[in-house]
Amino acid sequence: MTVQDATQIVLRDMTPADIHAVADLCFEQQWPHREEDLKMLLSIGTGLVAEIDGKVAGSIMSWRFGASFASLGVIIVAVAHQGHGLGRQMASAMIKRLDGYAVMLNATDEGRVLYGRLGFVELGTVCQHNGLAPVQPLVQLRPGERVRPMGAADAEVLDRLYTSATGMDRKLVLDALIAEGSTVVLCHEHKQTGFAVIRRFGKGWAIGPVVAPDVTGAKALIAHWLGTQTGSFCRIDVPVMNGPQKAGLGAWLEEVGLPEADCVTPMALGPAPVPGDDVVLFGLAAQALG
Ligand SMILES: CC(C)(COP(=O)(O)OP(=O)(O)OC[C@H]1O[C@@H](n2cnc3c(N)ncnc32)[C@H](O)[C@@H]1OP(=O)(O)O)[C@@H](O)C(=O)NCCC(=O)NCCS
Repeated sequence: MTVQDATQIVLRDMTPADIHAVADLCFEQQWPHREEDLKMLLSIGTGLVAEIDGKVAGSIMSWRFGASFASLGVIIVAVAHQGHGLGRQMASAMIKRLDGYAVMLNATDEGRVLYGRLGFVELGTVCQHNGLAPVQPLVQLRPGERVRPMGAADAEVLDRLYTSATGMDRKLVLDALIAEGSTVVLCHEHKQTGFAVIRRFGKGWAIGPVVAPDVTGAKALIAHWLGTQTGSFCRIDVPVMNGPQKAGLGAWLEEVGLPEADCVTPMALGPAPVPGDDVVLFGLAAQALG
């Protein structure tokens, strides 16, 4: 698709050849995404770039999760072109393509006003924690519980757990992350009850998704990956939730040396997904993917 308007802005599909320019937009914003990270995101979604005078001046990507839900991310307008309606134009064009889908995103403070005006509703908070992984933080496993490497036979169950924790069909995302990263499974008496993926991202490692039955299980999974990366930069994006059972992960991350770096605001245009009550999402795959 190519649309040209009176002000000589061209909106067109993003291709792998645009990744270098999109990485430059990220760099200008001091976002950590490497070209490899953007390529992976584009490989499981679609994107638009806005060109002004033949130069990429804006980007947006989207991902579909089954037939009902989608998310937006990598929404950037080059600083020199901000405040002239380009962000609204790109977001509106992508939302139009997602007709029939409820659309989710994680908004920066800069983006919140725009999304609010487009009809998005705020749902909560997601806080990024990062830092150098400490020497193995010990987490006491409960009787019958263990953390072990994922095997091929786990794939179906992990997909079911991830879908329950998010309320969305996550197969496409999970398959890509498992292929790219490493995965451990939390088991209780041989039954899979949670899992966590680690992969290269930005200037180090990203731990996520983290899916667990409770905060103790989540800590055990995260502690496993931190213990393998001692001294390396690690990041985790934690949905901040209410209720005594779910609280406490952020405080624990601070304690083990991964302080809160910043927070974003999850927003939805349309009905938000409803997670199941057997597992909880303690760490996002990425802010862009939810
Ligand atoms: C967020 C961003 C994409 C917006 O793009 P933009 O082209 O500057 O925004 P627009 O000019 O289209 O403005 C969209 C609307 O938001 C309003 N708006 C934008 N920034 C605003 C601010 N800081 N305060 C108040 N209103 C603001 C505009 O008035 C406009 O409203 P209107 O269409 O009803 O007149 C851009 O600022 C950006 O790239 N920021 C850095 C990266 C980032 O944080 N991206 C968002 C990730 S979720």
